[in-house]
Amino acid sequence: MQAENAEQQNALPNDVVEEKTDVAAPTPAEETAEELNAPLLEVKNLKKYFVVDKTLLGKPCAFLKAVDGVSFKLERGKTLGIVGESGCGKTTMGRTILRLYDITDGEIWFKGREVSRLKPREFNKLRPHMQMIFQDPYASLSPRLTVGEIIGEAALEHGIVDKAHYREYILQIMKMCGLQPHYFERYPHEFSGGQRQRICIARALALKPELVICDEPVSALDVSIQAQIINMLKDLQKSLQLTYVFISHDLSVVKHISDSVGVMYLGSMVEYGVKSDIFEHTLHPYTKALFSAVPVPNPHVKMNRIILKGDIPSPVNPPAGCKFHTRCEYCMDICEDIPPEYREVEEGHYCACHLYNSPEDNLKYKEQMEELLRKKREEDQKKLEKSLKYRLFKADKKKESAPDENKAEAESPKEEKNGEEEA
Ligand SMILES: Nc1ncnc2c1ncn2[C@@H]1O[C@H](COP(=O)(O)OP(=O)(O)OP(=O)(O)O)[C@@H](O)[C@H]1O
Ligand code: SF4
Ligand SMILES: [Mg+2]
Repeated sequence: MQAENAEQQNALPNDVVEEKTDVAAPTPAEETAEELNAPLLEVKNLKKYFVVDKTLLGKPCAFLKAVDGVSFKLERGKTLGIVGESGCGKTTMGRTILRLYDITDGEIWFKGREVSRLKPREFNKLRPHMQMIFQDPYASLSPRLTVGEIIGEAALEHGIVDKAHYREYILQIMKMCGLQPHYFERYPHEFSGGQRQRICIARALALKPELVICDEPVSALDVSIQAQIINMLKDLQKSLQLTYVFISHDLSVVKHISDSVGVMYLGSMVEYGVKSDIFEHTLHPYTKALFSAVPVPNPHVKMNRIILKGDIPSPVNPPAGCKFHTRCEYCMDICEDIPPEYREVEEGHYCACHLYNSPEDNLKYKEQMEELLRKKREEDQKKLEKSLKYRLFKADKKKESAPDENKAEAESPKEEKNGEEEA
C-alpha cells in the first residue's frame, strides 16, 4: 500500500510542481573584459579518433574517426542545436569538449582562452563552469546516494557552497528545477523519468555552470514530460544566462530551443548557421534529406521525402572525397576524390559541399583532380610493370625446372624398358 502511494506520488502530476523563479540565480565568478567579449565556446577543427586495432608491438594501426574536424562558435546565453544520424559523433563531440575524452587534434577555446592544451589539474578548476546532462536519466544517477547528496556532492567538493549553507543552497537549486523539498532525503529509484532528469539538471546547475552540454536530455522521456523539461531548460537559460549545446535527434525540439544549428555527418560538421538559415535556406544535400523526414502537421501539404540510399559508412574506413558521396543524389566526379572544404558560403552560414564552389575553386580542384588522375595512372602503370615482372620471373623459373622434368621423363621409359627386358 505504501509502495502504491509512493508510486502515485511519483506519477505525472508530481512532475508539474510549481516551478522557480523567485530564488536568486547562482552568479558566475567575476570576469575580465577580454573574457566577456570573447565567444563563450569556440571549437576549431576538433578531432577525436578511437584506436580500434594495434600491431603485434602494440602500435595503433586502425582508428575510428568519431569526430573528424568540427568547428563552430557559440555566444553566451545562446543555444547551439546539434543534429545528425545515430553514430555521427554527437556525444563524442560533447564529451571531447568537456575533456572527458583526450583530444586527438584541434582546439577548444572557452571564454577567449585555449583550454584544450591545459593540464588535467588546471582543467579541473574549469570543470564546474562546463557541465553535461546525459541522455539516460536512469543510468546517470548513483542509486546509493540521496537526491540531496547527488545534487550537492560536487558543489561541496569544488567549494561552491560551504557545509553551513549546504542544505539551504541545494533546496534552492531543487526549487529552481521543480523538485519538492522533501525529495532531498529520497533515492533515485523512487522517481519517474522526468523527475530523474530534473535531478540531473539540478546536479549540473548546482555547480553554477556557464556552459551546459545537453546530450539528448529528453529522448528517454514521454512527450508531455519532454515539453516540461524543454520549457524548464529555456526558463533556466533566461534566468541564469546559461549557454547550451543541445544534442538531439528530434528536429522539432532543436527548432524550438536553438539559436544556431550544426549538422553532423560521419564525424564532420557539414552545415552550420543560425536557425532560420538552416531550416529555411538549407544548403547541404544531407541536411535537406534529414529535414525532408520531418512530418508536416498539415494534411494538404505533400511531404517530399528524400530517401537516402545505402547505409551510413563505417567511421573506421570512411569514403574518400566527400564522406556523403556514396549516398548523395547530387554526387559529381569531384566528390569521389576531393573532400569539400567547410567554408562560409553565405554570411554566418557554413557548408561543406562542392555544389557551392566558386569558379576559382573549381579551377583549383580541376588541377588537383588532374594531378590525382596522373598519380593514379602512374600507380597503375607501376602495378602493371610489377605484375609483368613477376610473371616473367615465374616463366623463367618454370623454364629452369623444365630440363629436369624432361630428363626425368626421358629416364622413366628407359627404366620401364629395362624392366620389360628382365622379364
Ligand atoms: N569509447 C569508444 N570507443 C570506441 N568507439 C567509440 C567510443 N565511443 C563512441 N564510439 C564510436 O564513435 C562513433 C560515434 O559515437 P557517438 O556515441 O558519439 O554517436 P552519436 O552521434 O552520439 O550517436 P547516437 O545518436 O546514437 O547517440 C560511433 O561509431 C561509436 O561506435
Ligand atoms: S560534395 Fe558532392 S557528394 Fe558531397 S554533398 Fe556535395 S554534392 Fe553531395
Ligand atoms: Mg549520442
